[in-house]
Amino acid sequence: MVESTKNATLSFDGKTLELPMYSPTSGPDVIDISKLYAQGDVFTHDPGFTSTSSCESSITFIDGEKGELLHRGYPIDQLAEKSHYLEVCYLLLYGELPTAAQLEDFETRVTRHTMVHEQMHNFFRGFRRDAHPMATMVGVVGAMSAFYHDSTDITDPWQREVAAIRLIAKLPTIAAMAYKYSVGQPFVYPRNDIDYASNFLRMCFAVPAEEYEVNPILSRAMDRIFTLHADHEQNASTSTVRLASSSGANPFACIAAGIACLWGPAHGGANQACLEMLQEIGSVDRIPEFIARAKDKNDPFRLMGFGHRVYKNFDPRAKVMKQSADEVLDLLGVENNPILQVAKELEAQALADPYFAEKKLFPNVDFYSGIILEAMGFPTSMFTPIFAVSRTIGWVSQWKEQISDPKMRIGRPRQLYTGSGARDYVDVENR
Ligand code: CMC
Repeated sequence: MVESTKNATLSFDGKTLELPMYSPTSGPDVIDISKLYAQGDVFTHDPGFTSTSSCESSITFIDGEKGELLHRGYPIDQLAEKSHYLEVCYLLLYGELPTAAQLEDFETRVTRHTMVHEQMHNFFRGFRRDAHPMATMVGVVGAMSAFYHDSTDITDPWQREVAAIRLIAKLPTIAAMAYKYSVGQPFVYPRNDIDYASNFLRMCFAVPAEEYEVNPILSRAMDRIFTLHADHEQNASTSTVRLASSSGANPFACIAAGIACLWGPAHGGANQACLEMLQEIGSVDRIPEFIARAKDKNDPFRLMGFGHRVYKNFDPRAKVMKQSADEVLDLLGVENNPILQVAKELEAQALADPYFAEKKLFPNVDFYSGIILEAMGFPTSMFTPIFAVSRTIGWVSQWKEQISDPKMRIGRPRQLYTGSGARDYVDVENR
C-alpha cells in the first residue's frame, strides 16, 4: 500500500474531516474516502465511477489525455511491435518480461492445457445452433467450474495458478468451438506444434476434409488483436470480474461474469455493432445522413467504434490496429471492399467534423479490429468472443492480484435512495 503523503480537508454541515491522500506512480492523486461514512455519516455519489478509484493495482496504466497505455510500465505500441501475445500474458500475470527459459516453460504450460474436457462437447450440444457465440461462451466458461474442481479453491495459490493457465489456454478453444457449433461443422482439436494465434485460426477455419495452412500475416494480425485487447485497467468487465471475485466466487464463475459484461455494445460488443453500422450505411453517399443522426440529440444513434471513456485525444491501440488493417487488406486484396470504403470515408468525415473534434471523439480500437476480422472471414457474431479471448489474461491477472491482496473485502457500493419512504402494506382488495 502506498503511504499517505498529505490530506484533503472536507467541510460540510459544520463538520471538517481530514481525508488521507495518496500519490500513485503515475496519474492523478487519490483521496481516500473509505472512512467517510464512519466519520462523517455521508456517502459519495459517482454514477459511472468517473472519479472513483476502486482498487490499488500495479498492472496497467492509462493516460487518457496523452493516449498512453502501459502494461507493467511497457508502452502498448512497443509490445505490439516487438513482443507477442503469450509474452504479454506472462508480463501481465507475473509482472516482468520473461527470460527465454521462463517464456518457453510458460508457453509449454499454456499449450498443454488447450484441450477441454471431452465431456464439455456435450455441453455445447445443449445450445441451439443459432445461439450467439457470446451466450455459449458465458455458459461454457461458467461451466468450467463444474469440470475443473481441482482449481476452484481460491485460497490455494497453486490452484489459482492452474486456474489462470487453464483459462488462458482454453478460452480460444471454447470460442472456436462456439463458432464451429454455430456453423454446423465438427470441432477442431488444438495442436501443440503451432503458436497460440495460429492455433485459434486453425480451430476456427480448418475442416477435417482438407489440410489447413495458417498464413503468417494473418496469424500475426490475430496475435496483434489479442495483444492490443489484453488488458485495459478497471474497465466495466474487469470491474465486474473483481466485484464477482470479491465475494469469494471461483475464477471460472468470475470470468464468465466478465464475458457477460463485455458483451454490451458500449463495451466489447462495439466491434460487432460497428461493423453492422458500416453495413447499414452501405455506401459512401449515405455517410452524411448517419453523421447527422449521431449529432442529433433527439436520436439515440451513436457512431459505433467512436469515442472512449478514458482516451480523449487518441486510442493508442487504434493506431497500431489501423496499420494491421492495412497489411491484412493488402494481403487479401480487398482494398475495394465497400465496407472498408465506407469505414475510411466515415473516419475522414467524422474527424473533420467540429462536433466530433469538440467532444474529442475519434475511432477507437474496435473500429479497426472489426475491419480486420471481417476481412479474415469471421462473422460479426465472433468479434466480441475474440475480444473475450484476448481480455481473459487481463481479467485473470487482475483477479489474481485482487485475491493476493490482504485488504480484499467484498465490494458493496452504496446508493442515493430516491424511492418511497416507509409505508404500510395495503391488502389487495383495498388498493
Ligand atoms: N457518437 C456520437 N456522439 C457520441 C459518441 C458517439 N460514438 N460517443 C459519445 N458521444 C457524445 C455524447 O452524446 C455526449 O454528448 P453530450 O455531451 O452533448 O451529451 C458526449 O459525446 C460524451 O458522451 P458520454 O456518453 O458521456 O461519454 P462516455 O465516456 O460515457 O462514453 C463510450 C464512452 C465509449 C461509451 C461512448 O463514446 C460510446 O457509446 N461510443 C460508441 C460505442 C463504442 O465504440 N464503444 C467502444 C469503446 S472502446 C472498447 C472498449 O474499451 O470496450
